[in-house]
Amino acid sequence: MAMDIVNYMRARAAAVDAALPAFVRGLGGAQPRLAASMTYSLAAGGKRLRPLLMGASYEIFGGKARDILPAACALEMVHTYSLVHDDLPAMDDDALRRGRPTNHKVYGEALAILAGDALLTDAFTVLTSSRYPRSVGPERVLGAARVLAQRAGAMGMVSGQAADLQAEGFLRGPKLAPARRSAGLKLLAYIHLHKTADLITAAVEMGAVLAGAPAKDFKALSSFGRELGLCFQVADDILDVVGDKKKLGKSGSDARNRKLTYASLLGVEGARREARALLDRALARLRAVPGAAAPKAALEAMAGFVYGREN
Ligand code: IPE
Ligand code: IPE
Ligand code: MG
Ligand code: MG
Ligand code: MG
Repeated sequence: MAMDIVNYMRARAAAVDAALPAFVRGLGGAQPRLAASMTYSLAAGGKRLRPLLMGASYEIFGGKARDILPAACALEMVHTYSLVHDDLPAMDDDALRRGRPTNHKVYGEALAILAGDALLTDAFTVLTSSRYPRSVGPERVLGAARVLAQRAGAMGMVSGQAADLQAEGFLRGPKLAPARRSAGLKLLAYIHLHKTADLITAAVEMGAVLAGAPAKDFKALSSFGRELGLCFQVADDILDVVGDKKKLGKSGSDARNRKLTYASLLGVEGARREARALLDRALARLRAVPGAAAPKAALEAMAGFVYGREN
């Protein structure tokens, strides 16, 4: 099974890998170095987890993931912009991403900022200017655009990033008083919910909206996305401490930046227990979703992958 999901993800990610650079090429009149900088980060690989989640969520309601590939790529463009900016010296100041030098190390800070700006903006070009099957009409596309905007902006990911930066240094001194620990856990729940879980939630929500899912199924999938997104970030916190940097393709900077993370608050073992609890909650939410068995099994297997991942 573990092997099956790896093959499933690799095969489906290949379609996303192939489509992304073509979308950048389609942006007529783009300044060449800007386009190169955008393509550099998009083409660096990555798990493509969010597009795959969107495709499986859409397939629950009977469609085929390839029909909504532009929407899946739009979300990956927003995610990629968030990584390019996250790595900037003013943020996490990282030199390695997806196994390559970070965007600003290659193109300079100014162009990395602009590439992020363009990836974010043109995600909406790609989402709203592409062709979809007749069943996916303009209202559904508008609904997906609204989900993406809300989960990415000040109500979502960007606020999580702002809170993440503000919480640097929260853990001062060697021993953490219990009251401070519980305040830290509360703050961390907000940070993780927004900086990471929101875009993962957006993935399954956009799939459901594009499929015209009933409200109650949308809600169940949305809760699944939230718990899975939280699990994803706890795993990320753990990997930053104990992960194999070669497999990860990034060098780990949480300790240097004195980040507030599950690993720094609860230790690696405590964080693992938290990730397990979040995985179980995600799977319980998924069981409330009706629909096709194969895409549901794919979502379940991807959740297991997120919990056990090494990259
Ligand atoms: C990294 O996301 C950023 C976080 C939200 C922790 P991924 O681990 O999905 O990165 P890629 O897309 O596979 O490179
Ligand atoms: C970043 O969290 C989340 C976003 C980019 C929105 P991290 O800062 O932990 O991600 P990595 O570890 O650099 O991938
Ligand atoms: Mg960060
Ligand atoms: Mg970072
Ligand atoms: Mg991290």
